[in-house]
Amino acid sequence: MIPNSRRIFLKQSAALTGAFSLTSLFQQAHAADFAAATRSVSHLNALEAAQNEDFWAPIQRAYSVNPNLMNLNNGGVSPAPIVVQEAVERYNQLSNEGPSYYMWQILDQGREPLRQKLAQLAGAKPAEIAINRNATESLNTVIYGLPLKAGDEVIGTKQDYPNMIQAYKQRAERDGIVYKQISFDFPIEDDDVIVRGYEQAITPKTKIIHVTHMVNWVGQTMPVAKIADMAHAHGIEVIADGAHSFGLIDFQVPDLHADYFGTSLHKFLSAPIGTGMMWVKEDKIEKLWPLTCNSVPHSTDIRKFETLGTRSFPLEQGIGEAINFHEAIGSKRKEERIRYLKDYWATRVREIPGVELHTSLNPKYSCAICGVSVKGMTPGDLSSALFNKYKIHTVGIVWENISCVRVTPHVYTTIPDLDRFVAAVSELASSAKA
Ligand SMILES: Cc1ncc(COP(=O)(O)O)c(C=O)c1O
Repeated sequence: MIPNSRRIFLKQSAALTGAFSLTSLFQQAHAADFAAATRSVSHLNALEAAQNEDFWAPIQRAYSVNPNLMNLNNGGVSPAPIVVQEAVERYNQLSNEGPSYYMWQILDQGREPLRQKLAQLAGAKPAEIAINRNATESLNTVIYGLPLKAGDEVIGTKQDYPNMIQAYKQRAERDGIVYKQISFDFPIEDDDVIVRGYEQAITPKTKIIHVTHMVNWVGQTMPVAKIADMAHAHGIEVIADGAHSFGLIDFQVPDLHADYFGTSLHKFLSAPIGTGMMWVKEDKIEKLWPLTCNSVPHSTDIRKFETLGTRSFPLEQGIGEAINFHEAIGSKRKEERIRYLKDYWATRVREIPGVELHTSLNPKYSCAICGVSVKGMTPGDLSSALFNKYKIHTVGIVWENISCVRVTPHVYTTIPDLDRFVAAVSELASSAKA
């Protein structure tokens, strides 16, 4: 006979989904739909499947986006599909029945299965994966945790993300490290130009190169592995900011050859908003200080980076459901679909007089994000007009040498949406010229 406490636990576990259990909400809600859609594209390669609207229709329906507002700023943060929202709600209700018991004794048991799921998705060892709240937290943990001393140099770019730039500047002010920024003129379609840009800034004091895998402002994909190979040949470690690449392009984190990697999961993975992941190469864990406290700061256990205090276990556990959803689509299919959507609108608007693209359309150098501008309009004018006249949400970018509107579709974006967007840009361009 099963003891009473065990029976209660089994009953509670049955109420849990995502990382915990094979009977996920995704399977209950969408398995049949997806199985049929997947059969319809099983004879197609990922590029062909990207253009098969029958396959993408159930995926579009799996989100709860507002039909009256076209969200083309998925680069900022992406919505979660309904199954992920429901998982979070279930975990939240359970947590509120008795937070310290349900969160710390029940939901907490999902963390190790979740670590394994994330590791599998990342192509990494579970012992190298820490779960946290966003890319800022992941990468700041690395930046503040590195044992750098006064005079040690770090090379980054003016086009990196501000939260990382500020962290290096803070370390420069606090610890006397030297933070050097190079600058790129994107788009660039030549790996050697990029690798050389970093290499020329190296001195005998350089210890770290920081690379943004996909540059958030204009979506340029950086050749991280080539940069890392060059850096390692000089004895330099590499930090990769994968906020925009993880869950979007089909790659394995170790293939970047970097030493440290941080990402948000609430962008292209469509995990609950406020979830992130950090990867540290196994032999680098010991020397990296945790950002928050730990009883053994120089432990080799990746869990030392998870002493975050009380945080949302429902959000964290919802990540498992997002991985189920992502895997049901298929990583490569998802990458090709989102790139197809970007190409769909970008190749149409670039034919309009007065319209300029700020991103390469070579698949090697871009995927979801593309910058666009209209002659005679500032980025602010263009994004405001798109919103005020057409209820299309984008973001105006003015940063360093970049000035454009950033447009980012996601798997739920439809072709009719993009036709409306192209028509809106066309009207605005012709009235800006008039
Ligand atoms: C390149 C890059 N890195 C890091 C971040 C930070 O992400 P989060 O706000 O989720 O911490 C962003 C956010 O947009 C980003 O674009």
